[in-house]
Amino acid sequence: MSQQDLNSGSHEAITQHSAHMDDYRALVKIACLLSSEPELDNLLNLIIDTSNSLLNADRSSLFLVDYATNELFSKIALGTSNEIRVKIGSGLAGTVAKTGEIINLRDAQNDPRQQKRIASEQAYIPHTMLTVPMRNHSGKIIGVIQTINKKTGSFNERDEEVSLAFASLAAVAIENATMRRDIELMLKSFIETMADTIDLKSPQTAGHSRRVAFYAAEIARELNLSKDNIELIRMAGLLHDYGKIGVPEVVLKKQGKLTEEEWGFMRQHVSITEGILKRLYLIGELKRLPSIAGQHHERVNGTGYPNGLLSEAIQMEAKILAVSDVYDALTVRRYYREPMTHIDALNYLRTLTGIEFEGDCVEALVRVVERVGAPQNPYEDTALQFGSTPAETLAPDLSRFLQ
Ligand code: C2E
Ligand code: SIN
Ligand code: SIN
Ligand code: FE
Repeated sequence: MSQQDLNSGSHEAITQHSAHMDDYRALVKIACLLSSEPELDNLLNLIIDTSNSLLNADRSSLFLVDYATNELFSKIALGTSNEIRVKIGSGLAGTVAKTGEIINLRDAQNDPRQQKRIASEQAYIPHTMLTVPMRNHSGKIIGVIQTINKKTGSFNERDEEVSLAFASLAAVAIENATMRRDIELMLKSFIETMADTIDLKSPQTAGHSRRVAFYAAEIARELNLSKDNIELIRMAGLLHDYGKIGVPEVVLKKQGKLTEEEWGFMRQHVSITEGILKRLYLIGELKRLPSIAGQHHERVNGTGYPNGLLSEAIQMEAKILAVSDVYDALTVRRYYREPMTHIDALNYLRTLTGIEFEGDCVEALVRVVERVGAPQNPYEDTALQFGSTPAETLAPDLSRFLQ
Protein backbone atom coordinates (compact mmCIF):
# COMPACT_ATOMS: atom_id res chain seq x y z
CA MET A 1 0.00 0.00 0.00
CA SER A 2 1.39 3.43 -0.92
CA GLN A 3 1.55 6.54 1.22
CA GLN A 4 -0.92 8.07 -1.22
CA ASP A 5 -3.53 5.43 -0.42
CA LEU A 6 -3.12 6.13 3.26
CA ASN A 7 -3.35 9.87 2.79
CA SER A 8 -6.51 9.51 0.77
CA GLY A 9 -8.00 8.20 4.01
CA SER A 10 -10.37 5.81 2.30
CA HIS A 11 -12.01 3.42 4.70
CA GLU A 12 -10.80 0.45 2.72
CA ALA A 13 -7.19 1.64 2.75
CA ILE A 14 -7.16 2.21 6.49
CA THR A 15 -8.74 -1.14 7.26
CA GLN A 16 -6.22 -2.80 5.01
CA HIS A 17 -3.37 -0.91 6.64
CA SER A 18 -4.36 -2.01 10.12
CA ALA A 19 -4.73 -5.60 8.96
CA HIS A 20 -1.21 -5.41 7.58
CA MET A 21 0.04 -4.03 10.88
CA ASP A 22 -1.62 -6.92 12.72
CA ASP A 23 0.07 -9.41 10.40
CA TYR A 24 3.37 -7.61 10.84
CA ARG A 25 3.13 -7.66 14.63
CA ALA A 26 2.12 -11.32 14.63
CA LEU A 27 5.08 -12.21 12.41
CA VAL A 28 7.56 -10.29 14.59
CA LYS A 29 6.28 -12.18 17.63
CA ILE A 30 6.57 -15.46 15.76
CA ALA A 31 10.13 -14.65 14.65
CA CYS A 32 11.11 -14.22 18.32
CA LEU A 33 9.28 -17.39 19.33
CA LEU A 34 10.89 -19.54 16.62
CA SER A 35 14.41 -18.26 17.23
CA SER A 36 14.11 -19.10 20.93
CA GLU A 37 13.61 -22.85 20.28
CA PRO A 38 17.00 -24.53 19.79
CA GLU A 39 15.84 -28.17 19.53
CA LEU A 40 15.00 -29.14 15.96
CA ASP A 41 12.13 -31.54 16.76
CA ASN A 42 10.50 -29.07 19.14
CA LEU A 43 10.94 -26.34 16.56
CA LEU A 44 9.18 -28.35 13.84
CA ASN A 45 6.22 -28.94 16.15
CA LEU A 46 6.17 -25.28 17.09
CA ILE A 47 6.10 -24.28 13.41
CA ILE A 48 3.10 -26.55 12.77
CA ASP A 49 1.17 -25.19 15.75
CA THR A 50 2.00 -21.61 14.86
CA SER A 51 1.00 -22.12 11.24
CA ASN A 52 -2.39 -23.44 12.35
CA SER A 53 -3.14 -20.52 14.63
CA LEU A 54 -1.70 -17.84 12.33
CA LEU A 55 -3.87 -18.98 9.41
CA ASN A 56 -6.82 -20.15 11.51
CA ALA A 57 -6.49 -23.58 9.97
CA ASP A 58 -7.23 -27.09 11.15
CA ARG A 59 -3.95 -28.76 10.27
CA SER A 60 -0.53 -28.09 8.85
CA SER A 61 2.22 -30.33 7.48
CA LEU A 62 5.86 -29.50 7.16
CA PHE A 63 8.14 -31.04 4.56
CA LEU A 64 11.90 -30.60 4.31
CA VAL A 65 14.02 -31.03 1.20
CA ASP A 66 16.58 -33.82 1.20
CA TYR A 67 18.88 -32.70 -1.61
CA ALA A 68 20.86 -35.96 -1.42
CA THR A 69 17.87 -38.00 -2.66
CA ASN A 70 15.89 -35.22 -4.36
CA GLU A 71 12.99 -35.96 -2.03
CA LEU A 72 10.80 -34.14 0.42
CA PHE A 73 10.43 -35.73 3.80
CA SER A 74 8.12 -35.03 6.66
CA LYS A 75 8.14 -36.23 10.22
CA ILE A 76 4.99 -34.31 10.99
CA ALA A 77 2.26 -34.60 8.39
CA LEU A 78 -1.41 -34.67 9.19
CA GLY A 79 -1.09 -36.06 12.62
CA THR A 80 1.04 -39.08 11.70
CA SER A 81 4.52 -39.12 13.13
CA ASN A 82 5.76 -41.60 10.52
CA GLU A 83 8.23 -40.18 8.10
CA ILE A 84 6.68 -39.57 4.69
CA ARG A 85 8.87 -39.22 1.59
CA VAL A 86 7.86 -37.86 -1.82
CA LYS A 87 9.87 -37.06 -4.92
CA ILE A 88 10.47 -33.39 -5.60
CA GLY A 89 8.21 -32.47 -8.52
CA SER A 90 5.47 -34.95 -7.69
CA GLY A 91 2.31 -34.23 -5.71
CA LEU A 92 1.34 -30.83 -4.37
CA ALA A 93 4.17 -30.39 -1.90
CA GLY A 94 6.68 -31.79 -4.38
CA THR A 95 5.49 -29.40 -7.07
CA VAL A 96 5.77 -26.37 -4.81
CA ALA A 97 9.26 -27.49 -3.75
CA LYS A 98 10.23 -27.67 -7.40
CA THR A 99 8.60 -24.50 -8.78
CA GLY A 100 8.69 -22.28 -5.71
CA GLU A 101 5.15 -21.12 -6.61
CA ILE A 102 2.36 -21.04 -4.03
CA ILE A 103 -0.55 -23.41 -4.69
CA ASN A 104 -3.83 -22.32 -3.12
CA LEU A 105 -6.65 -24.86 -3.54
CA ARG A 106 -10.01 -23.34 -2.68
CA ASP A 107 -11.91 -26.54 -3.49
CA ALA A 108 -9.37 -29.22 -2.82
CA GLN A 109 -11.70 -32.18 -3.12
CA ASN A 110 -12.60 -31.39 -6.71
CA ASP A 111 -9.17 -30.20 -7.77
CA PRO A 112 -7.28 -32.65 -9.97
CA ARG A 113 -3.94 -31.56 -8.44
CA GLN A 114 -5.11 -32.70 -5.03
CA GLN A 115 -5.79 -36.21 -6.39
CA LYS A 116 -2.05 -36.67 -6.59
CA ARG A 117 -1.69 -36.43 -2.84
CA ILE A 118 0.02 -39.28 -1.13
CA ALA A 119 -2.01 -42.26 -0.05
CA SER A 120 -1.26 -41.99 3.69
CA GLU A 121 -3.08 -38.66 3.77
CA GLN A 122 -6.31 -39.99 2.26
CA ALA A 123 -8.13 -40.62 5.53
CA TYR A 124 -8.32 -36.90 6.23
CA ILE A 125 -10.44 -34.90 3.79
CA PRO A 126 -9.04 -31.52 2.78
CA HIS A 127 -11.41 -28.85 1.53
CA THR A 128 -8.98 -25.97 1.31
CA MET A 129 -5.20 -26.25 1.10
CA LEU A 130 -2.47 -23.64 0.98
CA THR A 131 0.99 -24.95 0.04
CA VAL A 132 3.89 -22.50 0.20
CA PRO A 133 7.66 -22.89 -0.27
CA MET A 134 10.08 -22.28 2.61
CA ARG A 135 12.98 -20.21 1.35
CA ASN A 136 16.07 -19.52 3.42
CA HIS A 137 17.93 -16.20 3.59
CA SER A 138 19.63 -16.86 0.24
CA GLY A 139 16.38 -17.80 -1.51
CA LYS A 140 17.02 -21.52 -1.65
CA ILE A 141 13.95 -23.70 -1.10
CA ILE A 142 14.55 -25.84 1.99
CA GLY A 143 11.03 -27.18 2.37
CA VAL A 144 7.29 -26.67 2.10
CA ILE A 145 4.52 -25.79 4.55
CA GLN A 146 1.06 -27.08 3.75
CA THR A 147 -1.85 -25.60 5.67
CA ILE A 148 -5.15 -27.42 5.44
CA ASN A 149 -8.83 -26.59 6.03
CA LYS A 150 -9.19 -22.96 6.99
CA LYS A 151 -11.82 -22.80 9.72
CA THR A 152 -13.88 -20.13 7.92
CA GLY A 153 -13.98 -19.82 4.15
CA SER A 154 -10.94 -20.44 2.02
CA PHE A 155 -7.38 -19.12 2.09
CA ASN A 156 -7.23 -15.63 0.54
CA GLU A 157 -4.42 -13.53 -0.88
CA ARG A 158 -3.58 -12.12 2.50
CA ASP A 159 -3.22 -15.67 3.86
CA GLU A 160 -0.86 -16.42 0.99
CA GLU A 161 1.35 -13.44 1.86
CA VAL A 162 1.30 -14.17 5.57
CA SER A 163 2.04 -17.86 5.04
CA LEU A 164 4.91 -17.10 2.68
CA ALA A 165 6.48 -14.64 5.12
CA PHE A 166 5.98 -17.11 7.96
CA ALA A 167 7.58 -19.88 5.90
CA SER A 168 10.72 -17.77 5.50
CA LEU A 169 10.96 -17.17 9.24
CA ALA A 170 10.50 -20.90 9.76
CA ALA A 171 13.21 -21.66 7.18
CA VAL A 172 15.79 -19.48 8.93
CA ALA A 173 14.91 -20.95 12.34
CA ILE A 174 15.18 -24.50 10.95
CA GLU A 175 18.55 -23.75 9.39
CA ASN A 176 19.85 -22.34 12.67
CA ALA A 177 18.60 -25.30 14.68
CA THR A 178 20.01 -27.74 12.12
CA MET A 179 23.39 -26.04 12.17
CA ARG A 180 23.43 -26.08 15.94
CA ARG A 181 22.59 -29.79 15.98
CA ASP A 182 25.23 -30.54 13.35
CA ILE A 183 27.91 -28.69 15.31
CA GLU A 184 26.95 -30.57 18.47
CA LEU A 185 27.07 -33.93 16.66
CA MET A 186 30.41 -33.04 15.09
CA LEU A 187 31.90 -32.08 18.46
CA LYS A 188 30.48 -35.23 20.05
CA SER A 189 31.96 -37.46 17.36
CA PHE A 190 35.40 -35.81 17.67
CA ILE A 191 35.39 -36.22 21.43
CA GLU A 192 34.21 -39.84 21.39
CA THR A 193 36.86 -40.66 18.82
CA MET A 194 39.55 -38.99 20.94
CA ALA A 195 38.36 -41.11 23.87
CA ASP A 196 38.51 -44.30 21.81
CA THR A 197 42.03 -43.54 20.62
CA ILE A 198 43.34 -43.18 24.16
CA ASP A 199 41.70 -46.44 25.17
CA LEU A 200 43.53 -47.94 22.19
CA LYS A 201 46.89 -46.71 23.52
CA SER A 202 46.10 -47.97 26.99
CA PRO A 203 44.43 -51.36 26.48
CA GLN A 204 44.41 -52.25 30.18
CA THR A 205 41.69 -49.65 30.53
CA ALA A 206 39.68 -50.69 27.46
CA GLY A 207 36.34 -48.86 27.15
CA HIS A 208 37.13 -47.10 30.44
CA SER A 209 36.58 -43.59 29.08
CA ARG A 210 33.09 -44.27 27.71
CA ARG A 211 32.02 -46.08 30.86
CA VAL A 212 33.34 -43.34 33.15
CA ALA A 213 31.48 -40.81 30.98
CA PHE A 214 28.32 -42.88 31.33
CA TYR A 215 28.54 -43.23 35.14
CA ALA A 216 29.53 -39.58 35.58
CA ALA A 217 26.64 -38.30 33.46
CA GLU A 218 24.19 -40.55 35.34
CA ILE A 219 25.48 -39.33 38.71
CA ALA A 220 25.15 -35.74 37.50
CA ARG A 221 21.57 -36.47 36.50
CA GLU A 222 20.86 -37.99 39.93
CA LEU A 223 22.25 -34.82 41.53
CA ASN A 224 19.95 -32.67 39.36
CA LEU A 225 22.75 -30.85 37.61
CA SER A 226 21.69 -28.79 34.60
CA LYS A 227 21.54 -30.27 31.11
CA ASP A 228 24.61 -28.27 30.10
CA ASN A 229 26.52 -29.51 33.14
CA ILE A 230 25.57 -33.10 32.41
CA GLU A 231 26.90 -32.71 28.87
CA LEU A 232 30.05 -31.07 30.22
CA ILE A 233 30.68 -33.88 32.66
CA ARG A 234 30.05 -36.50 29.99
CA MET A 235 32.75 -34.92 27.84
CA ALA A 236 35.09 -34.61 30.83
CA GLY A 237 34.52 -38.32 31.49
CA LEU A 238 35.33 -39.20 27.91
CA LEU A 239 38.57 -37.20 27.97
CA HIS A 240 39.74 -37.42 31.60
CA ASP A 241 42.57 -39.87 30.84
CA TYR A 242 43.48 -38.42 27.45
CA GLY A 243 46.89 -37.38 28.82
CA LYS A 244 47.84 -41.08 28.98
CA ILE A 245 48.75 -40.49 25.33
CA GLY A 246 51.89 -38.82 26.76
CA VAL A 247 52.78 -41.62 29.19
CA PRO A 248 55.44 -44.08 27.96
CA GLU A 249 53.87 -47.25 26.60
CA VAL A 250 56.02 -49.51 28.80
CA VAL A 251 54.54 -47.80 31.84
CA LEU A 252 50.97 -47.92 30.54
CA LYS A 253 51.28 -51.59 29.69
CA LYS A 254 53.34 -52.71 32.68
CA GLN A 255 52.06 -55.95 34.15
CA GLY A 256 52.52 -55.32 37.82
CA LYS A 257 53.12 -52.59 40.35
CA LEU A 258 54.76 -49.37 39.20
CA THR A 259 58.15 -48.19 40.49
CA GLU A 260 58.49 -44.68 41.90
CA GLU A 261 59.94 -43.48 38.62
CA GLU A 262 57.12 -45.06 36.63
CA TRP A 263 54.58 -43.46 38.96
CA GLY A 264 56.19 -40.14 38.16
CA PHE A 265 55.31 -40.63 34.51
CA MET A 266 51.89 -42.06 35.22
CA ARG A 267 50.83 -39.17 37.46
CA GLN A 268 51.71 -36.71 34.73
CA HIS A 269 48.75 -37.95 32.69
CA VAL A 270 46.44 -35.54 34.51
CA SER A 271 48.45 -32.42 33.72
CA ILE A 272 48.89 -33.60 30.15
CA THR A 273 45.12 -34.06 29.84
CA GLU A 274 44.53 -30.55 31.13
CA GLY A 275 47.22 -29.08 28.87
CA ILE A 276 45.81 -30.75 25.77
CA LEU A 277 42.21 -29.81 26.53
CA LYS A 278 43.24 -26.19 27.11
CA ARG A 279 44.22 -26.04 23.47
CA LEU A 280 40.66 -26.74 22.29
CA TYR A 281 38.44 -23.79 21.37
CA LEU A 282 35.67 -24.19 23.92
CA ILE A 283 32.62 -22.03 24.53
CA GLY A 284 30.33 -21.31 27.48
CA GLU A 285 30.23 -23.95 30.21
CA LEU A 286 32.63 -26.13 28.21
CA LYS A 287 35.43 -23.72 29.13
CA ARG A 288 35.62 -25.59 32.45
CA LEU A 289 36.34 -28.90 30.69
CA PRO A 290 40.17 -28.75 31.08
CA SER A 291 40.15 -27.87 34.77
CA ILE A 292 37.50 -30.48 35.62
CA ALA A 293 39.41 -33.24 33.82
CA GLY A 294 42.60 -31.94 35.48
CA GLN A 295 41.11 -32.54 38.94
CA HIS A 296 39.90 -36.13 38.55
CA HIS A 297 42.65 -37.53 40.79
CA GLU A 298 42.23 -34.90 43.52
CA ARG A 299 40.83 -36.31 46.79
CA VAL A 300 38.67 -34.41 49.30
CA ASN A 301 41.21 -34.80 52.14
CA GLY A 302 43.99 -33.29 50.05
CA THR A 303 45.88 -36.54 49.35
CA GLY A 304 45.18 -36.49 45.61
CA TYR A 305 47.32 -35.23 42.75
CA PRO A 306 48.56 -33.14 40.99
CA ASN A 307 47.80 -30.30 43.42
CA GLY A 308 46.61 -31.96 46.64
CA LEU A 309 43.51 -29.75 46.62
CA LEU A 310 41.09 -29.85 49.56
CA SER A 311 37.38 -30.55 49.10
CA GLU A 312 36.23 -26.94 48.77
CA ALA A 313 38.79 -26.27 46.03
CA ILE A 314 37.69 -29.29 43.96
CA GLN A 315 34.90 -28.73 41.47
CA MET A 316 31.76 -30.82 41.93
CA GLU A 317 32.15 -32.26 38.44
CA ALA A 318 35.67 -33.46 39.29
CA LYS A 319 34.39 -35.17 42.46
CA ILE A 320 31.80 -36.96 40.33
CA LEU A 321 34.52 -38.02 37.89
CA ALA A 322 36.71 -39.34 40.72
CA VAL A 323 33.94 -41.61 42.00
CA SER A 324 33.06 -42.81 38.48
CA ASP A 325 36.70 -43.39 37.58
CA VAL A 326 37.56 -45.47 40.62
CA TYR A 327 34.29 -47.44 40.50
CA ASP A 328 34.91 -48.43 36.90
CA ALA A 329 38.64 -49.16 37.44
CA LEU A 330 37.80 -51.48 40.35
CA THR A 331 35.01 -53.39 38.64
CA VAL A 332 36.97 -54.33 35.52
CA ARG A 333 39.84 -56.77 35.08
CA ARG A 334 43.46 -55.66 35.37
CA TYR A 335 46.45 -57.77 34.28
CA TYR A 336 47.25 -58.78 37.80
CA ARG A 337 43.85 -58.97 39.43
CA GLU A 338 40.26 -60.00 38.79
CA PRO A 339 37.51 -57.39 38.90
CA MET A 340 36.03 -56.49 42.26
CA THR A 341 32.29 -57.16 42.60
CA HIS A 342 30.21 -54.02 42.36
CA ILE A 343 29.13 -54.46 45.98
CA ASP A 344 32.77 -54.48 47.12
CA ALA A 345 33.57 -51.52 44.88
CA LEU A 346 30.67 -49.49 46.26
CA ASN A 347 31.65 -50.44 49.82
CA TYR A 348 35.22 -49.36 49.10
CA LEU A 349 33.94 -45.94 47.97
CA ARG A 350 31.61 -45.69 50.97
CA THR A 351 34.44 -46.50 53.38
CA LEU A 352 36.38 -43.57 51.95
CA THR A 353 33.44 -41.15 51.96
CA GLY A 354 34.55 -37.80 53.37
CA ILE A 355 38.17 -39.04 53.23
CA GLU A 356 38.80 -39.39 49.52
CA PHE A 357 35.33 -39.11 48.01
CA GLU A 358 32.31 -36.83 48.29
CA GLY A 359 29.40 -38.58 50.00
CA ASP A 360 26.69 -37.14 47.72
CA CYS A 361 28.50 -38.50 44.67
CA VAL A 362 28.99 -41.96 46.19
CA GLU A 363 25.32 -42.21 47.19
CA ALA A 364 24.22 -40.99 43.76
CA LEU A 365 26.39 -43.69 42.18
CA VAL A 366 24.75 -46.31 44.41
CA ARG A 367 21.36 -45.21 43.06
CA VAL A 368 22.65 -45.25 39.48
CA VAL A 369 24.00 -48.77 39.91
CA GLU A 370 20.69 -49.89 41.43
CA ARG A 371 18.90 -48.43 38.43
CA VAL A 372 21.09 -49.58 35.54
CA GLY A 373 22.35 -52.83 37.05
CA ALA A 374 26.05 -53.41 37.38
CA PRO A 375 28.75 -53.91 36.56
CA GLN A 376 28.03 -53.69 32.89
CA ASN A 377 29.32 -52.01 29.84
CA PRO A 378 26.78 -49.41 28.75
CA TYR A 379 28.57 -49.05 25.42
CA GLU A 380 28.58 -52.45 23.73
CA ASP A 381 30.40 -51.05 20.74
CA THR A 382 33.45 -50.16 22.79
CA ALA A 383 36.59 -50.15 20.66
CA LEU A 384 38.58 -52.60 22.71
CA GLN A 385 37.93 -55.89 24.42
CA PHE A 386 40.14 -57.94 26.67
CA GLY A 387 41.52 -61.11 25.19
CA SER A 388 41.95 -64.27 27.22
CA THR A 389 45.76 -64.41 27.00
CA PRO A 390 48.19 -61.68 28.04
CA ALA A 391 49.26 -61.24 24.41
CA GLU A 392 45.67 -60.66 23.29
CA THR A 393 45.16 -58.35 26.21
CA LEU A 394 48.06 -56.22 25.06
CA ALA A 395 46.98 -56.23 21.43
CA PRO A 396 43.93 -54.03 21.02
CA ASP A 397 41.16 -54.94 18.61
CA LEU A 398 41.66 -52.43 15.83
CA SER A 399 38.73 -53.58 13.68
CA ARG A 400 36.68 -50.50 14.42
CA PHE A 401 39.41 -48.23 13.13
CA LEU A 402 40.25 -50.28 10.05
CA GLN A 403 36.85 -50.36 8.40
P1 C2E B 1 42.89 -46.65 36.25
O1 C2E B 1 43.24 -48.09 36.18
O2 C2E B 1 41.82 -46.18 35.32
O3 C2E B 1 42.47 -46.35 37.72
C1 C2E B 1 41.86 -45.16 38.09
C2 C2E B 1 41.88 -45.00 39.59
O4 C2E B 1 41.07 -46.02 40.18
C3 C2E B 1 43.24 -45.15 40.21
O5 C2E B 1 43.97 -43.94 40.17
C4 C2E B 1 42.87 -45.54 41.63
O6 C2E B 1 42.48 -44.39 42.36
C5 C2E B 1 41.67 -46.40 41.44
N1 C2E B 1 42.02 -47.82 41.40
C6 C2E B 1 42.19 -48.59 40.31
N2 C2E B 1 42.47 -49.86 40.64
C7 C2E B 1 42.50 -49.89 41.98
C8 C2E B 1 42.74 -50.94 42.95
O7 C2E B 1 42.96 -52.11 42.58
N3 C2E B 1 42.69 -50.62 44.24
C9 C2E B 1 42.45 -49.36 44.65
N4 C2E B 1 42.41 -49.10 45.94
N5 C2E B 1 42.19 -48.34 43.78
C10 C2E B 1 42.22 -48.60 42.45
P2 C2E B 1 45.54 -43.95 40.33
O8 C2E B 1 45.92 -44.81 41.46
O9 C2E B 1 45.98 -42.56 40.36
O10 C2E B 1 46.05 -44.62 39.03
C11 C2E B 1 46.00 -43.93 37.82
C12 C2E B 1 46.27 -44.86 36.70
O11 C2E B 1 47.59 -45.39 36.84
C13 C2E B 1 45.37 -46.09 36.64
O12 C2E B 1 44.20 -45.77 35.99
C14 C2E B 1 46.24 -47.07 35.88
O13 C2E B 1 46.22 -46.81 34.50
C15 C2E B 1 47.63 -46.73 36.36
N6 C2E B 1 48.05 -47.61 37.45
C16 C2E B 1 47.78 -47.46 38.75
N7 C2E B 1 48.38 -48.45 39.46
C17 C2E B 1 49.04 -49.24 38.59
C18 C2E B 1 49.84 -50.43 38.70
O14 C2E B 1 50.07 -50.97 39.77
N8 C2E B 1 50.35 -50.96 37.55
C19 C2E B 1 50.13 -50.40 36.35
N9 C2E B 1 50.64 -50.98 35.30
N10 C2E B 1 49.37 -49.27 36.20
C20 C2E B 1 48.84 -48.71 37.31
C1 SIN C 1 47.13 -48.37 42.55
O1 SIN C 1 46.29 -49.00 41.91
O2 SIN C 1 48.28 -48.75 42.65
C2 SIN C 1 46.71 -47.13 43.19
C3 SIN C 1 45.35 -47.26 43.81
C4 SIN C 1 45.44 -47.52 45.31
O3 SIN C 1 45.57 -48.68 45.70
O4 SIN C 1 45.34 -46.56 46.07
C1 SIN D 1 45.34 -50.33 38.25
O1 SIN D 1 44.44 -49.51 38.31
O2 SIN D 1 45.68 -50.85 37.18
C2 SIN D 1 46.07 -50.70 39.47
C3 SIN D 1 45.16 -51.42 40.40
C4 SIN D 1 45.92 -52.03 41.56
O3 SIN D 1 46.48 -53.08 41.42
O4 SIN D 1 45.92 -51.43 42.65
FE1 FE E 1 43.22 -40.96 35.40
